[in-house]
Amino acid sequence: MTNPTPDPKPTMNLKTNYLGLELKNPLIVGASPFPDDLDKVRALEDAGIAAITMYSLFEEQITQNIVGAEAHIGSYENSFSEAASYFPDVNVLERDADVYLDQIQRVKESVSVPVIASLNGTREGAWVEYAALMESAGADALELNLYFLPTDMEESAAQLEDRCIRIVETIKAHITLPLAVKLSPFFTALPHFAKRLAAAGAGSLVCFNRFYQPDIDTDALDIRPALELSHSTELRLRLRWLAFLSGRIDTQLAVSGGVHTGLDVAKALMAGADVVQAVSSLLINGPGHAADLLEELNRWIEEKEYNSLEDLRGCMNYLRCPDPEALERANYMRLLKSWRV
Ligand SMILES: Cc1cc2nc3c(=O)[nH]c(=O)nc-3n(C[C@H](O)[C@H](O)[C@H](O)COP(=O)(O)O)c2cc1C
Repeated sequence: MTNPTPDPKPTMNLKTNYLGLELKNPLIVGASPFPDDLDKVRALEDAGIAAITMYSLFEEQITQNIVGAEAHIGSYENSFSEAASYFPDVNVLERDADVYLDQIQRVKESVSVPVIASLNGTREGAWVEYAALMESAGADALELNLYFLPTDMEESAAQLEDRCIRIVETIKAHITLPLAVKLSPFFTALPHFAKRLAAAGAGSLVCFNRFYQPDIDTDALDIRPALELSHSTELRLRLRWLAFLSGRIDTQLAVSGGVHTGLDVAKALMAGADVVQAVSSLLINGPGHAADLLEELNRWIEEKEYNSLEDLRGCMNYLRCPDPEALERANYMRLLKSWRV
């Protein structure tokens, strides 16, 4: 008589609430080109990804459409009375924004996990109204990416932050969807700004943008744009700030940048992330890598005998970390002084 195959060991319940959405686990795909390819999106879902973030619709794309459509209509306006009948239907013009909204619907139809739309811009203007169109297109949440380099000599840090807050407030006023804000680590007073973002309606802060730093081509005397994918080492900057913010701010936290292994996912959760976004590691290894990340996370949780995800989440944040000083300046001096030549 053969022994019956033992039931597979039950894995830890990884269910996570993010922005009011019930996720089966905390691993989501960050904003990336994946949603352009519905087969890849389905493969990500099959591999266990709990939500899909769309690539961004950029302020510049929307503004071009608005200016383009107005200029086009304006050029007919004063010609003759039946001019209206000559207006090309703006809907038949290939418009980035419309294509984007259609793609949200297609992705929604292809998978059952939540789909988070992404709007990317930093100046105040009519583009923010597209947030409402994203909601109508079926997005389950919205991520606003405030990606910018402060290059204006006349704009102070306070003015710049005020502008960002006004954008968040305006978008919030246009939608009922939950809103995440993706930001850079380079704010003069990040904790204070983070607190203001939360008060303005950000349900989550996505930490952080990666800056794509162009290089100089010394032969061609030109600037060479460079898009390099991340490494796990980039996670550390995120871990530190997550640990500072976790438990001290009235908003959820997502990590973006440097998540390549299941252990990276575990570290992000320990620092206080509610959800963990991955892009580079999935682009390098393919959508199936999501299953590897989740399996490694599950195995690690089991080995360490955590009872629930809640026991793990934030256990190394500033409030609960056994050595919070290690996150601060004191450790900086100690580390430098410990180097021996
Ligand atoms: C090819 C590529 C395209 C991306 N497109 C977007 C985008 O449209 N909007 C956005 O907010 N972030 C975008 N990102 C940034 C990622 O969402 C993520 O923040 C960044 O890659 C860091 O995460 P990672 O280390 O897991 O790659 C893109 C990244 C890559 C590599």
